[in-house]
Amino acid sequence: MITRRTFIKGAATAGVAAIGLPEMLASRGKHSEAKPADAMQALRIPPIITGGDLTLAAGTFQVYPDAPTNLFMVNGQFPAPTIKLKKGDTFQATVHNNLTEHSVLHWHGVFAPAAMGGHPASVVDPGTSYSVNFPIVQRASINFYHAHPHMMTGEQVYRGLAGFFLIEDDVEQGLGLPSGDFDVPLLIQDKRVDANRQFIYSLTNADMMSGWLGETILINGTPNPYLDVAPTLYRFRIVNGSNARFYTVALSDNSAFTVIGNDGGFLDAPIRLTSVGLAPAERLDLLVDFSSRAQGDTMTLVSQPFTMSDPPGTGTVPQGAALDLLQFRVNRTGSSGGSIPTSLPAIPVLKASDAKRTRLWTFSAMHYINDLSYDLARVDATVPFGDLEEWTFQSVGNTHPVHIHGAQFQVLDRNGNLPEPYERGWKDVIRLDPQGTVHVLVPFNMYPGLFVIHCHKLEHADEGMMSNFAIGESSVAESTTDEVGIQIVPNPASDHTLISFPSLKRKEMIEIQDEKGAIIFSKVLPLGTTQITVQTNAFADGNYMIMIGNRMAALTILRASK
Ligand code: C2O
Ligand code: CU
Ligand code: CU
Repeated sequence: MITRRTFIKGAATAGVAAIGLPEMLASRGKHSEAKPADAMQALRIPPIITGGDLTLAAGTFQVYPDAPTNLFMVNGQFPAPTIKLKKGDTFQATVHNNLTEHSVLHWHGVFAPAAMGGHPASVVDPGTSYSVNFPIVQRASINFYHAHPHMMTGEQVYRGLAGFFLIEDDVEQGLGLPSGDFDVPLLIQDKRVDANRQFIYSLTNADMMSGWLGETILINGTPNPYLDVAPTLYRFRIVNGSNARFYTVALSDNSAFTVIGNDGGFLDAPIRLTSVGLAPAERLDLLVDFSSRAQGDTMTLVSQPFTMSDPPGTGTVPQGAALDLLQFRVNRTGSSGGSIPTSLPAIPVLKASDAKRTRLWTFSAMHYINDLSYDLARVDATVPFGDLEEWTFQSVGNTHPVHIHGAQFQVLDRNGNLPEPYERGWKDVIRLDPQGTVHVLVPFNMYPGLFVIHCHKLEHADEGMMSNFAIGESSVAESTTDEVGIQIVPNPASDHTLISFPSLKRKEMIEIQDEKGAIIFSKVLPLGTTQITVQTNAFADGNYMIMIGNRMAALTILRASK
């Protein structure tokens, strides 16, 4: 536990001015005041796109009015543009890596074919591009996207490569929720900002233990933000895009709000609460009613203080400190016309007795999972496609927000207790406490292929707290090479199939061999290629072998009998 003494010492060595924990704690419960050093700024809202070109590049952005900040950005925006699509749409994007280091974008929470989902093995080199193209198959939900190169995720996300990925659907549109200006996305991040308005990221061992914690909260990239609101119902779609910071979201006057959704979309019922926990990468869908507020009134979205026994790191504002997130100023008129739904669609409840097997994932003090540090080339578990499994997350060290790609889960219990009501429904991140245990039920029925489970304290993941797991035997090449993950969708195929694989490190030949050993298709694939669509109309029904370099995978052609 951090003491006041160590805190003050830390603040002094880091040369941090005016704002300290004791003052912040003392100001709790009062209406928020501007932080001493900086004027408040109107909350920025990222522009909305549906896909297209996503260009990753270094550049500067006017985070503060007085000096530009050096960042990594998507399309020159900080945060990255908001991708907004509707269930049934196709997401099509070309990612151009104009950084001077490798990168890949992961669509966190969005079901995507393995080779297009942003697995760390899919990184592309500087100066290269890759395309993704897949249908949005899931219900309305608040997701995000962020860089995911192994050992560099923490820094690239911190430098700006993160944005919303919002999915809408007809069910949501029928709920009568606040929309337009009254539906506000909030990406919460914390940074260490130096006197020149640059974001500091230099990890010590202590920071790797704690995860990187900043003293400056940015909402949608805005420091000291405020939002002018009308006295009406608002919807806030919240993503915790911080590297390692947890929040306990509340209103400064402790008034109640309504939680209607979390990571995987709507809960099965609205919940009235006065505070709600938010681990790194978790999402919340909140309704806040300002209708009884007078013009000129202010209140603040805050993070309430909490205790977490993790190592403190070198930041000046420790994990669990009270923080102001966003000031609301009742300064507008108008009505959202939205209402708090009295009910939400039912969610099928998974039963532990239906699980085909159990699997244990132990998160160690050394930032290993099951005593192994992450290896891109090693597959630590293979789950048969279509099975429901019960997974146990166990910490023998500190707090870890555990995340899995390629699937959503339902939480059975944590430390022997039911999850919080706002942790019910579909999740892809869950807080695992020090020495704690969480049981979840995970159906693996979306896409086969190679995925990861990892801690979403990004410094922990970068240090190796990540594991590869494969869904479906057939999706992993049975080669002995150091590269895995040829994915074929659909397979069996009829008239065409999409073959995806980690970005090629060199020019390679793809060959398709029939059962007699004849090569019936071949093509040279340039360096950086991640996928190819093969027209298979001329292939007879039967089994084929796909070979790319020294990787192999099986393809079946099967046409519906007429
Ligand atoms: Cu946002 Cu692999 O995660
Ligand atoms: Cu993810
Ligand atoms: Cu962790």
